[in-house]
Amino acid sequence: MTSTQSNSKGVAVVTGSAQGIGHSIAVRLAEDGYDVVINDVESKKENLDIVKEEITAKFPERRVLIVLANVTVEEEVKGLVESVVKEFGKLNVFVANAGIARVKPLLETTSEDFESVLSVNVKGTFHCYKYAAQQMIAQGDGGRIIGASSLAGKKGHAMLSAYCASKFAVRGLTQTAAIELGHHGITVNAYAPGPIHTSMLAQLQQAAVERSGDLYEEMKRLSSVGYLGNTQDVGNLVSFLVTPEARFITGQSITIDGGIFFD
Ligand SMILES: NC(=O)c1ccc[n+]([C@@H]2O[C@H](COP(=O)([O-])OP(=O)(O)OC[C@H]3O[C@@H](n4cnc5c(N)ncnc54)[C@H](O)[C@@H]3O)[C@@H](O)[C@H]2O)c1
Repeated sequence: MTSTQSNSKGVAVVTGSAQGIGHSIAVRLAEDGYDVVINDVESKKENLDIVKEEITAKFPERRVLIVLANVTVEEEVKGLVESVVKEFGKLNVFVANAGIARVKPLLETTSEDFESVLSVNVKGTFHCYKYAAQQMIAQGDGGRIIGASSLAGKKGHAMLSAYCASKFAVRGLTQTAAIELGHHGITVNAYAPGPIHTSMLAQLQQAAVERSGDLYEEMKRLSSVGYLGNTQDVGNLVSFLVTPEARFITGQSITIDGGIFFD
């Protein structure tokens, strides 16, 4: 018996958790009682160390493992899941959060831009879904897989052609995975946030300001609630999706945008 089996709800992996939404999800799942595996690319190692210190200080009974891996590389995602199983003996929740954006008009978007965005956001998510599912099926007691779509996966947005294409793709992947994995007791959903205060959104705001716009004000104006979201809002949604009470929700990309877009 591993030490995690005594008081842990299970083991949760969050990719791209050195900052932003992934960071908040990891903290929230630790608060909920999960041992957490935080992941990002090598260049974010110091941030991951800080996240680990934060979680350990707030929730000393929780175990935190850092695994560096680039989600675009299949062998690294396979290795990530193997490291989790070696350390904890099981995997219960996998949040494929890592993502990137390129903010450019369609006519300035290069083939390399397009490929790099699809590589992280689509291929990376595919790798995560595949190896998480393989492990959960082998364990035989179900699981929760969650991806990162976007409001930009529900409707087109200027300056975000590759990003929108990638986030629509995450929805397709999520629906297909839900259909194939449901009979194994595994639900597969995605969060589809509107504007959430992170460095990614700051990148979009910067592009808007350069064109004499103000994305923050525009998004507030378009929203029903009159404010932007924060990373904890997404953590709250994930916190519910991983519960047993969410067992009948699968294949969904759940909009969380303060009422900008209605499915
Ligand atoms: N912030 C928003 O408004 C918003 C809205 C909708 C969707 N999202 C999505 O939510 C997710 C998190 O967004 P965020 O705003 O926190 O972004 P962020 O840029 O703050 O954080 C993303 C993290 O992913 C990591 N990452 C990038 N490529 C990686 C790779 N190949 N392998 C492993 N890790 C990698 C980055 O290093 C970074 O730490 C993304 O998928 C994003 O597309 C964000």
